[in-house]
Amino acid sequence: MADYYDRHATIFIATTRDVDMSDARERFLAAVPARANGPARILDAGSGSGRDALALRVLGYDVKAFDASPAMVAATQAHAAVETRLMCFEDFAWEHSFEGIWACASLLHVSDADLSGVVDRLAAHLVPGGALYLSFKRGTGARVKDGRRFTDMTAEGLAALLDGCGAFNEPDLWESRDCRPDRTSEVWVNAVVNKT
Ligand SMILES: C[S@@+](CC[C@H](N)C(=O)[O-])C[C@H]1O[C@@H](n2cnc3c(N)ncnc32)[C@H](O)[C@@H]1O
Repeated sequence: MADYYDRHATIFIATTRDVDMSDARERFLAAVPARANGPARILDAGSGSGRDALALRVLGYDVKAFDASPAMVAATQAHAAVETRLMCFEDFAWEHSFEGIWACASLLHVSDADLSGVVDRLAAHLVPGGALYLSFKRGTGARVKDGRRFTDMTAEGLAALLDGCGAFNEPDLWESRDCRPDRTSEVWVNAVVNKT
């Protein structure tokens, strides 16, 4: 998977860096708890171009990031100037917890078989009350497009995934149109949850 983003880094960055994610970002940030002794810590998980890591850092959050693609790690570091690690969701670990984890259009590349374990891992790295944002393309099951594997999700499927984790309260679930001008027919399924 990462090799797709390495091979197509220039075009991927050019077509995603300016996408307006303010609606989802505001819904997520409204759920991120404050931290007593400093800015809330937010992890951009599968950070791609670094668009959201930059937006979050500019808002004053303590942002870290990771991605499985070396080209995307370099892009995030260069664009957002935040610590960005080369890491896969499947091996994810960090030495501290976060008030928020932002996984925008990234968990969709994790296989269905691995998803619940990965969501458990992310939940384990949230403080109590911490918020997780995640988004998938609307659909069911696995598919391969242009060499990328996607796990698609309905709102019901995403609710069941989060419920199965057993670590979260009721999700804020919504659908949205792709913001890219040539992709407006694509529908995204989004969720924000808080760890109980
Ligand atoms: C569709 S892009 C989304 C990038 C960014 N979050 C955004 O919204 O523009 C998917 C990102 O997830 C990364 N990725 C794919 N599989 C991954 C995995 N198993 N672990 C971590 N990152 C992964 C890719 O390298 C890519 O940067």
